[in-house]
Amino acid sequence: MSTFSVLARLESIEELYKNVFLAWLHCRQISSAAKPGQFIMVSCNDYLLKRPLAIHQVNQTKEAFAVLFAVCGKGTTWLSKQQPGTELSMLGPLGNGFSLAPEAQNILLVAGGLGIAPIRFVAQSAREAGKSVILLQGASTASCVYPADNLPEQVKCHIATEDGSCGAHCLVTDMLGDYIEWAEQILACGPNVMYHPIAARNNRLSSARPFQISLETRMGCGFGACYGCSIKTAAGMKKVCHDGPVFDYYEIVWDKNPGI
Ligand code: FES
Repeated sequence: MSTFSVLARLESIEELYKNVFLAWLHCRQISSAAKPGQFIMVSCNDYLLKRPLAIHQVNQTKEAFAVLFAVCGKGTTWLSKQQPGTELSMLGPLGNGFSLAPEAQNILLVAGGLGIAPIRFVAQSAREAGKSVILLQGASTASCVYPADNLPEQVKCHIATEDGSCGAHCLVTDMLGDYIEWAEQILACGPNVMYHPIAARNNRLSSARPFQISLETRMGCGFGACYGCSIKTAAGMKKVCHDGPVFDYYEIVWDKNPGI
């Protein structure tokens, strides 16, 4: 696995939907090495810590990649105000991403909130591999729904919102049961609270079906040096930034990780 410390040129940046920005960055090294589920650590001006951002998309020529981020603090506010042409210091691609099971043809993707950031990249890879893809997308309200015309072609998208303003009036995990039988592999990303009830609510979900999730944790270094992102798994302590952020759902010892 190759990781690069680079200056990447910002090609474009726009507010794609409410408070969520899409930025395209020119960097052949990261774009050509990136796998769905991996992330970068980007320096935001002189703020001390780099920010982890999931890789959202890679262009056809693998010379540029996109990140999708919400403005939620000083660093991301600074990032959202940068102009095309700015060079940004970053490290990436980092972590272990999603892996599509070769034998699985029907791929069910579940994205809660900004979990769509890495899931969009998985959808792209799955469609390029000729797989059938259904995406369940959850958001708090209609203005927080990722625009469907930014999804790869032939991805069937079903939306759930918490206030019922778009799609089904429920949590995205409530829709999972309707697609369990169809799915041959499930890949999910969302706030960690989304994962806890999934197995309990969907008792047809069995460990025989591959189920990968991407975890969100606070990160310091992003490359395994500070132990700030350690979690308990069935195979012992692991670091989200280095061993993940994608894990087998059944590997996580949920009741031993109160912080996630
Ligand atoms: S963020 Fe430092 S070890 Fe994971």
